[in-house]
Amino acid sequence: MRIDVVSIFPEYLSPLDLSLIGKARASGLLDLHVHDLRSWTTDRHRTVDDAPLGGGAGMVMRPEPWAAALAAVRKAGRGSLEEPEAVPHLLVPSPAGAPFTQAMAHELADEAWLAFACGRYEGIDERVLDAAAEQGPVTPVSLGDYVLNGGEVAVLAIVEAVARLLPGVLGNPESVVEESHAPATGGLLEAPVYTRPATWEGRSAPDVLLSGHHAKVAAWRREQSLRRTAARRPDLLSRVDAAQLTRADMAV
Ligand code: ADE
Repeated sequence: MRIDVVSIFPEYLSPLDLSLIGKARASGLLDLHVHDLRSWTTDRHRTVDDAPLGGGAGMVMRPEPWAAALAAVRKAGRGSLEEPEAVPHLLVPSPAGAPFTQAMAHELADEAWLAFACGRYEGIDERVLDAAAEQGPVTPVSLGDYVLNGGEVAVLAIVEAVARLLPGVLGNPESVVEESHAPATGGLLEAPVYTRPATWEGRSAPDVLLSGHHAKVAAWRREQSLRRTAARRPDLLSRVDAAQLTRADMAV
């Protein structure tokens, strides 16, 4: 997968050199390019923002450097993918975007090329998104109902969530199957986990986990998932497919 990120703070993306994502880049599974938006400014002060039309607080990112940056990214990506018609799926982190979910992470993990436009200040002039939408898919995406100072932290989260789903990035591909929000758990939160020692500071791990009885362990985990989801995220319970509920689930 190729990923391009455009930001006025390219250093903000340096954690993408670390850990499993860093390894995925080193091994070529992930071809990630971070670009400085200011390289596409033309004035002496490398200006990227201006006052909002219609007034109001804050500044808005000007369309010219964004248009030039996105055109250059498209050109570079087409060259590297050797597909003259390829276009990236442009993701624009914004508190006004659609909520980023695990389902969206799975969809994005199937794409060949993603590009991120990191807004700062009050956001990017809307015409940049309108023009980009004539070239390819554009999705404004939100990490949650709170406001960050810019899109960079959202990109770190989204790239990690997507890249770990790419085949070969995680050591054990099973890890992504039974985690919170994964399709296999029916979108529920995952059950609590324990490791050795079986008793630590007088606290015992649940006996069933030491029983070696796989069906009982699975039933226990399912019950814990339902209880935890009901307690912490009751909104997710409505997503559970009623046809998939077992008699044991009903008893929880
Ligand atoms: N930029 C600012 N706030 C954001 C949020 N909540 N999600 C994604 N990008 C953002």
